[in-house]
Order: sequence, then structure tokens, then C-alpha cells
Amino acid sequence: MLKFDFSRVLKENVSSGLEVSEIEGKAKEALKSIEKMKDSEPGFLRIVGDPEILGQVKDLQEWLFNFDTFVVLGIGGSALGNIALHNGLRPLNWNEMSLEERGGYLRVFVSDNVDPDFVSSILDRVDLKWTVFNVISKSGSTAEAMANYLIVRNLLESSGLDPKEHLVFTTDPERGVLRKIANEEGIRVLDVPPDVGGRFSVLTQVGMLSAMAEGIDIDELHEGAIDAKKRCLESEIWNNPALLIAVIHYLFYERGRNISVMMPYSNRLYYLADWFRQLWAESLGKGGKGQTPVKALGTTDQHSQIQLYNDGPNDKLITFVKLDRYSRDILMGKLHEDKDALSYLGGRKLSELINSELHGTEAALTENNRPSMKLIFDGIREYNFGYFFVTYECATAIAGDLLGVNPYDQPGVELGKRITYSLMGRKGYEKEADLGKIEKEMII
Ligand code: PA5
Repeated sequence: MLKFDFSRVLKENVSSGLEVSEIEGKAKEALKSIEKMKDSEPGFLRIVGDPEILGQVKDLQEWLFNFDTFVVLGIGGSALGNIALHNGLRPLNWNEMSLEERGGYLRVFVSDNVDPDFVSSILDRVDLKWTVFNVISKSGSTAEAMANYLIVRNLLESSGLDPKEHLVFTTDPERGVLRKIANEEGIRVLDVPPDVGGRFSVLTQVGMLSAMAEGIDIDELHEGAIDAKKRCLESEIWNNPALLIAVIHYLFYERGRNISVMMPYSNRLYYLADWFRQLWAESLGKGGKGQTPVKALGTTDQHSQIQLYNDGPNDKLITFVKLDRYSRDILMGKLHEDKDALSYLGGRKLSELINSELHGTEAALTENNRPSMKLIFDGIREYNFGYFFVTYECATAIAGDLLGVNPYDQPGVELGKRITYSLMGRKGYEKEADLGKIEKEMII
């Protein structure tokens, strides 16, 4: 279960906070978005619990479980959900475990960059013979995903392995070069529903295949998503977390809080903040509007960021993510009982310390008149992740309406892509090489 604590955004608790009446007023206005979503379901809601999606993924089970390792080749929305699921729902040392320790499930790596050091480091760790490569690209044209594909295919071929046995594509059902190659060569291929944009696609085939490969319960993920969908379509304002998240962010944004920090107190939940960062930035950052999403990790970033959050410009809304039950716990040794700096810790659990630090940090922010909200996970389980994804996707859609921007496009990403194509000699992009030329260089 997920709980949402909005206490520390209220004016009664933080003087820079919001009146209940203004939250309700704006939320009533935002109910229009909920009605709109009910009338014509956006793709990301339509696919929740869709048996066709889960069926397509499960059809590959028999083939998949012949392998030891699964590598995703994709970027942005075609990678960040996979990374969040992998780091969150598998133990942090999953990829170092033996096949037996993993219960026969696959290791998962995600190659979501074209940094040669990074890509090489993944390839160094896999045995091609026992590896499946999942090229994920909705458009089938993203340079990074295509580059990774060419590298891997070349390696497979030069090792005498049959690419058809080691590749699976996830792409648009009709368009793009991956679909064409899959059709021509009979390579296994999964659909990305055309009405679901990359950053909203974690619960589609995009995120579900790698999740299933590593033994994540994809049905339970969708159960959480189904419950979140019901709740996020509620017209009862104080029972709709997505509506409140959107409205509260919007009202604070209007008052100059241009930064939204998400700070999980859990290494395993940290990658949800990374997923959120893309969703919020790419969906809402347009037409001169948008809030900069920042990710931070508790407690680590208390020793890096909290000085700024408490004492720097008062321009942020912070969302803490609390974990009630960690999957493991450790006791601190009851040693040095005569030394005050250590004795208070001895015999206590690490979970007590991390949660006390979270409380200390949020309380200090409140004291310093800085608003914050909190998401509480009762534990690390699939249901909660599905719930989280859909809640934030709905919140983003509602926030888009409040800001008057289209949350589903990304025009600001296109120009850079076109200039890159031009520099790399792609046909049809010759003119773009001249864009962005500078008058005067200053390199020292
Ligand atoms: O959210 C988005 O649409 C983007 O971040 C895309 O996911 C990203 O650019 C990758 O696109 P594609 O899946 O077409 O390769």
C-alpha cells in the first residue's frame, strides 16, 4: 500500500504553505482533467491490466528462460522504467548472484547510453551465448538504441551465433526500421502501443519483458496499477492522490517554487526518482513553463544537498519517499557504551536510524518554512510500484492541463537529434549541420 502525507504543505504547519481552501479550489478546476481522462482514456491508463500486453510478454517465457542474462538496449522512456523495476524489485546485488541463487531468473543490465566505457563494461560482463538482447525503441530510430543494436548484432554474428535466437525487439506495431527488420528476418518482436508515449510506457511490453525475465511479478504490478487508476479517477478531491500531487505542485510552482525534489530514503526506491525526473521534465517542460525535477537520496544527500534545501533559496517543493519496512535490517553493535557519540546507536536497527533521519530532515525543513510532502511505501513489492507509476502518470497529465501544455510530446528534444544525425552523416539531414554555429570561440 502507498500512503500520501500532505500535512507539511499546509499553511497551518508551514507559513509558506497552502490554504486548504485554495487546494480545494484549484482541485475543483482540475477535476475537468479527470473527466477528460474518463471520457477518452489516455493510452497509459488504457493499458493498465490489459491482458493482451501481459499475454504477449508471457508468450516469450519458454524461450527466455533458456538464458542467464537479459540486456535492454534503449534510452529514456525505453529504459528508465526497466532500471527502476530492476533496482527496486530485485536485491541490489542481483546481477552478482549465481543462476541458482536467482532461482533460475535472469540477470538484467540496461545499456542506456553510448558512452563506450559504459557499453563495454556491460558487454564485458555477459556471455553472448547465454544472453538475450532486447532492443527497445518505439520510434525505431533513436540513435543510441540503434547504435547499441548494431554493436550487439555485429558481436553475435562474428561469434557465429544466430541473432534471431538472441534478439527481441520492442517497437511500434507497424512503423520504424526495427519492425521492418523483424518482419523481414522473423526476429521476435513485441509491440509498443502507439498511443502510449515512451515515458508513460513502463507498464507496457517496454517494461514488462525485462521484469518478467528477472522474476518480477508482472500481474501484481498491474494489480497495483489498476487500484491506482481507480483512485486517480475519483472525483472526491481528498481521496485522489494524483489530483492533489498535481494541484499542490502547480500552486507552489505559481508561487515561484520552480524545483521539485524527490528524495527516497531507500537505495532501492531511488531509481523511482530517476523515472519521475524524466516524466516531470519531458512532459511539463515546454513553452517556457515547467518545474525542474531533482532527485536526491536519503540519507546520503543530507550530506550534500540539505544545507541548500534548508537555507538556500526557498524555491523547492520536496517529496520524501519513506519505506516503512525494508526487506532486510541490520543491528548496530552494542559497543563503546561509555562513549556518547556511539552508545545511542548500539543495539538499534539501521531502519530506525534511517527513518529517524528522514523525520529529522522533514521536521527541520518545516521549521525553516520549507514545504514538503511524503509518500509512504509499506514495503518493497510489485503492487506498490504499479501504484506509484500510475499515480505519477496521472498527476503529470493533470499538471499538464493546469499548466496548459501538452504532456505527451517533446518538441524540445528533436532539434538536437536532427543536428546529431547531420553530424553523423544521416541522409536527409544535411542542412542541420549549420544550425547552432557560434560566432566566436573562447576555449582556454
Ligand atoms: O518519453 C519519450 O518519448 C522519450 O524519452 C523516448 O522514450 C526516448 O527518446 C526513446 O525513444 P524511442 O523509444 O523511440 O527510442
